[in-house]
Amino acid sequence: MTPRRILVTAALPYANGHIHIGHLVEYIQTDIWVRFQKLRGHNCRFFCADDTHGTAITNRARLEKRSEEAVIADMREAHVQDFAGFQIYFDNYGSTNSPENRELCHLVWKSLREDGYVVEREVTQLFDPEAKQFLADRFVKGTCPKCRSTDQYGDSCDKCGSTYSATDLIDPVSTLSGAKPEIRSASHLFVQIERLHEFLEEWTQSGGHLQTEVANYLKGHFLGEPLRDWDISRPQPYFGFEIPDSPGNCWYVWFDAPIGYIASTREWCEKNGQNWEDWWRNPAGEVHHFIGKDITYFHTLFWPAMLKVAKLNLPTKVHIHGFLNVGGEKMSKSKGTFIRAGEYLKFLDPAALRYYFASKQGPRLDDLDLNFDEFVAKVNSDLVGKFVNLPSRTARFIEQVGLSAVYPDDGGLFAQAAKDGEAIAEFYEDCDYSNAMRLIMEIADRANKFVEDRAPWSLKKDPAKAGELQDVCSVAVNLFRQLAVYLAPVLPKLAEQAGKLLNTPIVRWEDAQAPLVGTPLNKFEHLMQRIDPKNVAALVEASKEDLAPTKDPNAPADGPEALQAEPLSAPCTIDDFAKVDLRVARVLTAEAIPESDKLLKLTVSLGGSEKRTVFAGIKSAYDPATLVGRLVVVVANLAPRKMRFGTSEGMVVAAGPGGKDVFLLTPDSGAVPGQRLH
Ligand code: 2FM
Ligand code: ZN
Repeated sequence: MTPRRILVTAALPYANGHIHIGHLVEYIQTDIWVRFQKLRGHNCRFFCADDTHGTAITNRARLEKRSEEAVIADMREAHVQDFAGFQIYFDNYGSTNSPENRELCHLVWKSLREDGYVVEREVTQLFDPEAKQFLADRFVKGTCPKCRSTDQYGDSCDKCGSTYSATDLIDPVSTLSGAKPEIRSASHLFVQIERLHEFLEEWTQSGGHLQTEVANYLKGHFLGEPLRDWDISRPQPYFGFEIPDSPGNCWYVWFDAPIGYIASTREWCEKNGQNWEDWWRNPAGEVHHFIGKDITYFHTLFWPAMLKVAKLNLPTKVHIHGFLNVGGEKMSKSKGTFIRAGEYLKFLDPAALRYYFASKQGPRLDDLDLNFDEFVAKVNSDLVGKFVNLPSRTARFIEQVGLSAVYPDDGGLFAQAAKDGEAIAEFYEDCDYSNAMRLIMEIADRANKFVEDRAPWSLKKDPAKAGELQDVCSVAVNLFRQLAVYLAPVLPKLAEQAGKLLNTPIVRWEDAQAPLVGTPLNKFEHLMQRIDPKNVAALVEASKEDLAPTKDPNAPADGPEALQAEPLSAPCTIDDFAKVDLRVARVLTAEAIPESDKLLKLTVSLGGSEKRTVFAGIKSAYDPATLVGRLVVVVANLAPRKMRFGTSEGMVVAAGPGGKDVFLLTPDSGAVPGQRLH
C-alpha cells in the first residue's frame, strides 16, 4: 500500500469564547478520523488554529479593558488545554494572527487582484459615533420595519421572520455603546465570485467532494442564480490584517480564517523541515475539511473559489456535520446544558463523551442528540460492561503465566473479528462511526459470551485446569486487544493502556489481524469507571449560568442565621414596593477608589444612552475587572447622594452581611438592561 498524504482540518474556533460540548462534536469526529488514518499507516496530519480576527474579539477586549492580543493569547491557551483534555491531538495548532497567515493572505490576494476578481464599491452602513466604528448587523438593535416588534437585530426579525438591511431598522441603537448610529458610507472591496460560477457548479456537483444533501442544497439555494459579489473588506478600526493595496481597510475575518488552515500547515512544515506546498500544491495530496453545517457556504463556495484562483489544492472532501442538541433541545445556559469542555472534565471521563458521540455519529448532516440517560447507559453497558469487563474478569488469572504459547481454539472468534476489520475500516473512512461502533460491540458481545460459557472463575478453583484457564484467559485478553485496536481512534488512552497490559503497544490497524502468543502480562490496572448519574447531574448543575456555586447535595438544610441577623421588616403594600424602581443594568466600567476600603465606582447602563454612576460597597468582595460586562440589579430611582468621591446615582442590589460576604444579584440569561423587576 502506498501511504496517502492526507491533510485534515477542523473549523478554527473563534478566540472570543471557550470550547463547549457543541464544538466537541466536530473536534472529536475529526480527531477520530485522523487517528484512524494514522493507524492505517497513512501520512495524515491534523492542522487547526484559533480564529482571532473580527469585531467580536474587539468587543470582548473592550469589555475586559485589555488588548485584543491579550484576549487571544489567553483564549488560545484555554483552547489548547481543553482539546488536550479530550485527547484531541493536533499536529499543529496555530493562530490566524500570525506572520505566516499574513504572508499567505498576501499571496492569495495577489492572485485575486492579478486575475481581476476584485472591484471597489461604496457601501452604506450604520456607524457608532461613540465607539467610532461601523456596526456589524448583530451589534445593532431596533424596531422591525415590517411588524414593528422592538428589540430586533440588524439583519432579521425573530418575531415576523423578515430579513432587512440594518439601515432600515426603526430607532436603531448600537449594542456596543447604546448610542444612536449614523448612516455613513465607505468604500469596500468585493470579489466577483460569479465569474467562477461554472467551476463551482462542476466542483460542487461532481467528484464526491460533498455529501449529496450538501450538493443539492447548494444547487437549490445558490447556484440556480448569479452568485453575489463577496464583500471582503472592512474599514478600520477592525482587528485584522490591513489590505496591502487598500490602506485603511482590513480583510474581513472570513477571508483570512480559512487561509489559517494553510498557515498552520506552514508552521508545522517549518518546524519539521518540510515544504507547505507539498501539502497544498501537490496533485497527490488530499485535503479534508471537517465543519458544521452553519458554515457550509464559506467552505463550499468562497473557499474553493479562492483556492482555485490561487492555484492551490482544492478540498478533496468537505465533511459536514449537524448541531448538538441536549435532551432534544438546543443547548441552554439556564438549563445547564450549555456545557464547557473544561467543566465537563471536572466531573466526567473524556473517553465517555468520545465514545458516546462516536456511537451516535453518522455520515450525514443530522443533528446529534445528547441524552444523558442514554449516555450513562451506553457508556456503562458498552465500555465498562462489555469492553473493559473482558480483561477485568480474566487478566488477573494469567498475570503470572502470560499468554498461552499457541493461540487456543476459540471457535473462530478471533478470525471472525479479524475479518470484520475491513468493514469497520470502511465505516470509519466514511465517517459512519455509529455503524463502526455497532460492529465492534457485536464482537464484544461474542467475546463476553465466550467468557461466560467458559467461566474462568470456576476453572481457577481446580488446579488441574490451570492449562485450560490460561487458554480461556488468553483468548479473552486477545479479543480485548483486538477490540482495543478497533476502538483506538475513539479511545486512544484505553488503547494505550491495553498496549501496556500486554507489553505490546498498539501501533497499526493490522495489530488486530494476529493474536499474541507467549506474551508476558503486566499487572492489570483498572481501566475505566462506571459513570455515576450523580456526576452528570452535578455537571449540569455547575453549568447553570447565573447560579451561585454548586450546592453540595449533602450539605445541611439552610440555617436560620441570616434571618436572625436581619429580621424581616414590617409589611409594605404593593404600592410601597412599586415606588422602588428596580432595573436590570450592565456594568460598563468598574474601578476601585484608592482612598476607600469599601467602595468601587461603577458606571452601569440601563440600555440606550441611559447610564448611572454608582458607588458600591463591594470592594472587598469583587475584583473590578470581573464585573465589567455583567448584569446586575440597580435601584434606578434612588435620589442622587453626594458622597466624598462624587455623586452616587443609584444603588446596586446585593445580599450578605458585608466585607467579603457580599453577593451581587444577577438575572437569568435573557434579561437585558433597562428591564424592570416586578
Ligand atoms: O464558525 C466559526 O466558528 C469560525 N471561527 C470557523 C472558521 S473556519 C475557517 F474557515 F477558518
Ligand atoms: Zn418583524
